[in-house]
Amino acid sequence: MDRIKIVGGQRLNGTIPISGAKNATLPLMIASLLTEEPLVLENVPRLADVIQLQRILGNHGVDVTIEGKKPGADPNHGRTIQLSARTIVDTTAPYELVSKMRASFWVIAPLVARMGEAKVSMPGGCAIGTRPVDLLIMALEALGAEIEIEAGYVIARAKKGLRGGEIVFPKVTVGGTHTALMAAALARGTSVIENAAREPEIGDVADCLNKMGAKISGAGTARIVVEGVARLSGTRHAVLPDRIETGTYAMAVAMTGGDVLLQNTRPDLLQAALDVLEQAGATVTPTNEGIRIARNGSGLMPVDVTTAPFPGFPTDLQAQLMALMSRAKGTSRITETIFENRFMHVQELSRLGARIKLNGETATIEGVERLKGAQVMATDLRASVSLVIAGLAAEGETTVNRVYHLDRGFEKLEEKLAACGAAIERISD
Ligand code: UD1
Repeated sequence: MDRIKIVGGQRLNGTIPISGAKNATLPLMIASLLTEEPLVLENVPRLADVIQLQRILGNHGVDVTIEGKKPGADPNHGRTIQLSARTIVDTTAPYELVSKMRASFWVIAPLVARMGEAKVSMPGGCAIGTRPVDLLIMALEALGAEIEIEAGYVIARAKKGLRGGEIVFPKVTVGGTHTALMAAALARGTSVIENAAREPEIGDVADCLNKMGAKISGAGTARIVVEGVARLSGTRHAVLPDRIETGTYAMAVAMTGGDVLLQNTRPDLLQAALDVLEQAGATVTPTNEGIRIARNGSGLMPVDVTTAPFPGFPTDLQAQLMALMSRAKGTSRITETIFENRFMHVQELSRLGARIKLNGETATIEGVERLKGAQVMATDLRASVSLVIAGLAAEGETTVNRVYHLDRGFEKLEEKLAACGAAIERISD
C-alpha cells in the first residue's frame, strides 16, 4: 500500500492549481441518470472516488467516456468526461459498490424519479460518525415515493412517478438537499425545499440541472423551489473549484510560511475559513487568478472556531485547522457540530507532538513550539491530509500510511506540494 514520506521544515512558495470540486463532481455525475442524453462534465478531478462512481454508474448502464487531452490544453485543467444514460439496465445499486462511498447512495433519487423504482444498499464511506440516511428517505417520501427497508437495502417505488411536495429538513443536510433536488426536478408539480443546504456545490448542481431543462430557483439559499418537468436533456457543465482543497493548501502555507498562489479558485467559496486564517496571522489576497496566501516569519495566533453548515466554517477543514493550531502561540478551541466522532486525527496528531484535549464536541489545542516527525495513519480523508500538513512543519521525517484515503479526495497532492518546495514523496511498495 502506498505511503507518503515528508521531511518537514520547508517553506512553500509558488503556484498550486486547484482542481474541480469532488463534492460537486459526484452529484453531477449522478445527475446524468436523469436523462437519456449525454451529460458532458469539464474540470473533473482525477480521484479514486470519481473512478468508483464511474463503476457504480456503469452498473446502471451509464456509458462513461473520458476525452483525451487536446494538444496545447492546460495540463492542470481537469478531465472532460461524457456520461450517457440512454438506457438504464439495472435500478439496483449493490452493497459491494455502495459500501465504498457514501455519496453513491444518492443514485436513489434519479433512479426512482426516472424509472419509478430503485433499490440501493445503505451506504458506507468515511468512518466519521453514524451518518444516517433518514432525511434522504424522508425527502423521497414527501415526493410520493413508497419506501421499504429490506436486508440492508432501501427500496423506493413511485410507479406513477413522483409528485411535487414540501420538504422541510429538520437539520441541514447536503446529501438530503441533492437528493431532494434531483427527485423534484422530474416530479409532477412544484416542490419546496425548506432549510436546504446552501453549500456552493448545491448551487453548482442546480445550475447544471437548470441547463438540462430543470426549473429550480433559490439554490444557494435555505428555500429552494423546483417546478417539475417531464424530461431533462443533456448539457455541458464545468465543475466549480474545490473549496476544501483550496482551504487545505491555504492552511499548509499558513503552517510552513511562504507565499503561494492558489490558482483557479475563488474566495467566496470559503470566506469563513479565509477569515480564520487571517485571524491566525496569514495574509489572504484575492487576485484575478485565484487567492494568494502568505505568512512571513511571525508566529501563528490561536483561534476559536465552531464548524457549521455553509457559509460557516466547514467540517471538512476542521482536521486541517487543528493541525495548524497545534503550532499556534497559545490555546485554541475547535468545536465540531456536524459529525460526532470526527476527531480521529487527534490521536495521530499527538504522535507528532501536538497537545490536544478532547471534551465532547470540543478540542482544546495547546500550541507547541515544535512537532516531531513520526509514523502516522488516518482513517478518513480529511484526517489524512491534516497529518500531511502537520508533517510539513514537523522536524525530521513523517510517514503517512494508508494513502488511499488521500487519493479519494486530493488530486496529485504530493506533486502539487513538491512543486512549491515541500520535501514530499510517494512510496509505493
Ligand atoms: C457532505 C459532504 C461531506 C461534508 C458534509 C457536511 C459530499 C460528497 N460529502 O456529506 O464532505 O463533510 O456534506 O458538509 O458532498 N444526517 C442525518 N440524516 C440524514 C442525512 C444526514 O441525520 O439522512 C446528518 C449527518 O449525520 C450529519 C449532518 O446531517 O450530522 C450533515 O450531513 P450531510 O450534510 O448530509 O453530509 P453528507 O451529504 O453525507
